[in-house]
Amino acid sequence: MGCGEDPVPTIAGGDAAEGRRIVAAQGCTACHVVPGSGAPQGHAGPSLQGFARRGYVAGVLPNTPDNLIRFLRDPAAIAPRTAMPAPALDDAQLRHVAAFLVTLR
Ligand code: HEC
Repeated sequence: MGCGEDPVPTIAGGDAAEGRRIVAAQGCTACHVVPGSGAPQGHAGPSLQGFARRGYVAGVLPNTPDNLIRFLRDPAAIAPRTAMPAPALDDAQLRHVAAFLVTLR
């Protein structure tokens, strides 16, 4: 882990602006504080502020773009007792969401 100077990882096919829209539209903010989403924000899940600096996804997987996408595709497969439901997103949308999350420092 660097000291905050690491470049934002690129995620093939991922568009951060599109990911931000999906996060607001999919109700992620019902459970997560998401910086810049402008939507009502809940606290059932951890704040996603500073997510790019987190060492692990859900405290389980090293925080790499691939692992992030794996978690988002099926959270319970990674963290069996998690309260997070699997988002109804296809792979292209998951890539956009991941591309947005890795910009949150
Ligand atoms: C019903 C509440 C709920 C909803 C809706 C929800 N999440 Fe979560 N999310 C959680 C909880 C609870 C955790 C903690 C998981 C764990 O550590 O087991 C979590 C964890 C995460 C993590 C890992 C955070 C970390 O610091 O490791 C990410 C990333 C994430 N959610 C993104 C999303 C996105 C994107 C959406 C919308 C598509 C979403 N969540 C919708 C409850 C929710």
